[in-house]
Amino acid sequence: MADAQAFINPKSGSIRITGVVELVDADGKVLETIENPKFCGCGQSKEKPLCDGSHKGILKE
Ligand code: FES
Repeated sequence: MADAQAFINPKSGSIRITGVVELVDADGKVLETIENPKFCGCGQSKEKPLCDGSHKGILKE
């Protein structure tokens, strides 16, 4: 079984990862370590690469 799982919300495009994730730069330097992050897949977040909930303003019910 994998150490982490990714859940992709087909409506918002957000991507939730379970587990501890290291955000690294192009050289592999760890910039931040976060647990259970939710990444933006809609392109509207002001907190990229993380989802800030802005997708709620563009979703149609
Ligand atoms: S997916 Fe949530 S702000 Fe983009």
